[in-house]
Amino acid sequence: MLVKKRYLVLSGPNLQKLGKREPHIYGSKTLSDIHSDLTALALTMEADVECRQSNHEGDLLDWIGAASEEGFSGIVFNPGAFTHTSYALYDAVRAADVPVVEVHLSNPEAREEFRHTSLIAPACLGKVAGFGAESYALGLLGLLRRA
Ligand code: DQA
Repeated sequence: MLVKKRYLVLSGPNLQKLGKREPHIYGSKTLSDIHSDLTALALTMEADVECRQSNHEGDLLDWIGAASEEGFSGIVFNPGAFTHTSYALYDAVRAADVPVVEVHLSNPEAREEFRHTSLIAPACLGKVAGFGAESYALGLLGLLRRA
């Protein structure tokens, strides 16, 4: 029997507003649209995704910390503005025991200076930024193809 690999997709603060939030930067898809697209993409590769969003750093820390024990094979992670502020998430990703891909809809390095630094990136397997909603799909594909 084929045991499907499972991947966790995490989105941080304010990403629940996608579709309405600055669409000229983040596009018109909602987070729920992105989650549906990822579920469909994973299915084509005989895998599953579980998608979660929180505005609370602690939730993200708990989910990353439990991902390996929960049987996930990797994490696609858009930390939102925590990208630029959170040493705690950097530590959590380092300790995750599963590969983590950082994704961003926009290209933070082409935006305001405070967005140019990712505290999370050095702990990640890789990063995809600037492709809108497609960044999530490309990040997931990277994990799926690596497996
Ligand atoms: C973002 C980029 C971050 O700088 C910003 O704080 C976000 C969204 C992106 O997906 O482009 O909330 O992570």
